Amino acid sequence: MAYSIAIAGKGGVGKTTFTGMLVDYLVDAGKGPVLAVDADSNANLNEVLGEEVDLTIGQIKQEVNKAEMDGEPLPPSMTKADYTKLRLNQAVSEGKGHDLLVMGRGDGEGCYCFVNSLVKRQVSELSDNYNYVIMDNEAGMEHISRGTMGQMDMLILVSDSSRRGIDAAARIRDLAEELKLRIPVVKLVVNRAPDGVLNEGTRQAIEEKNLDLLGVIPMDSDVFEFDAYGKPLVDLPADNPARQAIKDIIDKLEIE
Ligand SMILES: Nc1ncnc2c1ncn2[C@@H]1O[C@H](COP(=O)(O)OP(=O)(O)OP(=O)(O)O)[C@@H](O)[C@H]1O
Ligand SMILES: [Mg+2]
Repeated sequence: MAYSIAIAGKGGVGKTTFTGMLVDYLVDAGKGPVLAVDADSNANLNEVLGEEVDLTIGQIKQEVNKAEMDGEPLPPSMTKADYTKLRLNQAVSEGKGHDLLVMGRGDGEGCYCFVNSLVKRQVSELSDNYNYVIMDNEAGMEHISRGTMGQMDMLILVSDSSRRGIDAAARIRDLAEELKLRIPVVKLVVNRAPDGVLNEGTRQAIEEKNLDLLGVIPMDSDVFEFDAYGKPLVDLPADNPARQAIKDIIDKLEIE
């Protein structure tokens, strides 16, 4: 069984940046195979990783659902389950040392219960082929609450230095508890801290919300520049301060 880590937090705080660097770190450290899952309907983890995406789970779900609704046959002699499995395998793109699966846009018109449960079962079967499944989420917790990825082993909440970011992280933690997701490890990472220093107000907010702070990533102009020019962040030099901070944070996690 793969060890699964989900990344969540308020919009624009650096979830995808962190996810990309986490995937890169695990691959570099020889801890693969790693499956990166982009669960943001506005998918962009591939850009951070420097990859193209041809097929998403959303597209597959629409294909299968349309065939179901129109009563159109899928390719001859294939059951829906087999066809879904085949397409899902095609949707897994191979990157440098890791694979990438993109959820894409959500459900279209009609009832998706059947195809959703099919996809869920097959994503969970697929993840058995990896040591790690790392999932980048959109702001909010749709995929986690819908259980798309099954049981999470770790939830990393990312925030910026703002109180709103910390509050949002705490709300996600609370929702996970309400939903009884029983995620064994829930940690907080503060990103884009000016000079890499945690502001006293932010520290207080973290304490008030009883969040477990794992580390702080500095605001870094190279991260911003790379992004602005569409350069994959995984190509940042090893001594880049943000990258270094992420490495230290992951080392602290002591994941096997
Ligand atoms: N440590 C950092 N220093 C400077 N800029 C950063 C840092 N981390 C992220 N950024 C920049 O902040 C912006 C948002 O980052 P990112 O896309 O990773 O956030 P997100 O939480 O995934 O956003 P969304 O909620 O839209 O998915 C990007 O332009 C990114 O380059
Ligand atoms: Mg993102």
